[in-house]
Amino acid sequence: MKKKKTILTIALSFCALGFSQAQDVEKTFIRENMEFAARQYELMLKTPAQGKEGKGVMPHSLRKDGTVSKGSIYLWTAGFFPGSLWYISEYLDNKPLQDSALVYTKKMEPMKTFTDNHDIGFMMYCSYGNANRFEPKPEYKDILVESARSLCTRFRPKAGVIQSWNGFRSWHGDKVYDFPVIIDNMMNLELLFYASKVTGDDSFRKVAISHAENTMKNQVRDDYSCFHIVYYDKETGKPIKGETSQGYSDNSAWSRGQAWGIYGFTMCYRETKDPRFLKTAEKMADFYLDHPNLPSDKVAWWDFNAHQPGYTPGVRSNANNVVTNYRDASAAACTASALLELSTYVKGSQSAKYLEGAKTILHSLGSKKYRAELGKNGNFILMHSTGAIPQNSEIDVPLTYADYYFLEALYRYDLLLNGQSLF
Ligand code: GLY
Repeated sequence: MKKKKTILTIALSFCALGFSQAQDVEKTFIRENMEFAARQYELMLKTPAQGKEGKGVMPHSLRKDGTVSKGSIYLWTAGFFPGSLWYISEYLDNKPLQDSALVYTKKMEPMKTFTDNHDIGFMMYCSYGNANRFEPKPEYKDILVESARSLCTRFRPKAGVIQSWNGFRSWHGDKVYDFPVIIDNMMNLELLFYASKVTGDDSFRKVAISHAENTMKNQVRDDYSCFHIVYYDKETGKPIKGETSQGYSDNSAWSRGQAWGIYGFTMCYRETKDPRFLKTAEKMADFYLDHPNLPSDKVAWWDFNAHQPGYTPGVRSNANNVVTNYRDASAAACTASALLELSTYVKGSQSAKYLEGAKTILHSLGSKKYRAELGKNGNFILMHSTGAIPQNSEIDVPLTYADYYFLEALYRYDLLLNGQSLF
């Protein structure tokens, strides 16, 4: 197991709360959740793919008819299940679950040459990245570096960004844009920073920094919410405009997009120490935590602006047909994980704010309101995530990435309570 660095931040902030008592309560909470996760995922490992499209291998979500959907290794979510198994098995020192983590990680190897969209960062860093974090092996490094090379094939030097998708048809009509970049892409950059560190080749890192700088400039708005998509012009490299695919409207704040931004810019600050990235991460986190529409349990609605005056979905968007508002546990889980890291880069009340925010989210997600009962919920851990309302897909369901970021956040929280950090 990789040695962990010791840090003092958490010890200092917990001193004020009565350190050892508060710490014991939190550590018990984390352990109970990890033990539950192990039992639930042991059942998940025995759950076959169900339904007529049941050919996938990676647990993804639940269908409307209650059957478990599994995705192929080509789906953007394919790395999360092995990643979750790594976090649980590492925390509990559970060898059978670690063996399963390895089996599922190895299924991802063919994806190292995938270049058809930007998602290879999610797919490979959550699977092989965690394998390498917890049980480093030279072949994992090689697979990750090759994956980083594949991602870099999508870098467009004129615009200075990695192209996310090959095209997107706007919700406003028939126009198809051929150079869309989505905020989610910030999450893929961690793979590139890693590749530069292990190869000594700066080019990966330069791509990551360029992408983050241009995202900060073109995608993050003045109030530190963000556009889900920015379309660029292939010829000139200039941004054309911002729209949405998964948010309520072009000008709204899609909560998972906000989470990707908080997490992505926090990670970019970790890797560069560039204060502009820290400021962006802080302000995006403040947008989430201080938003008047954030419920008191801090699990965001799927979009901060859904159904509000001044926000109108495109004509083709299914968001026009949905009157109920839904939460997104996946956005909250990813935000919690990011806030824990961010709390270690700032001081005083700002640090305490991020730590408290993460803690509230984790306790909400670990409560009966969001955490499933053993053997229920298709054996996923969390309920109440929202995949894509505009596409009429995955509404109020479990999602594998909600579980992944919940487990990652619990794991990070435990390290912080021990005065340690992974980074
Ligand atoms: N990366 C796709 C999503 O957040 O739904």
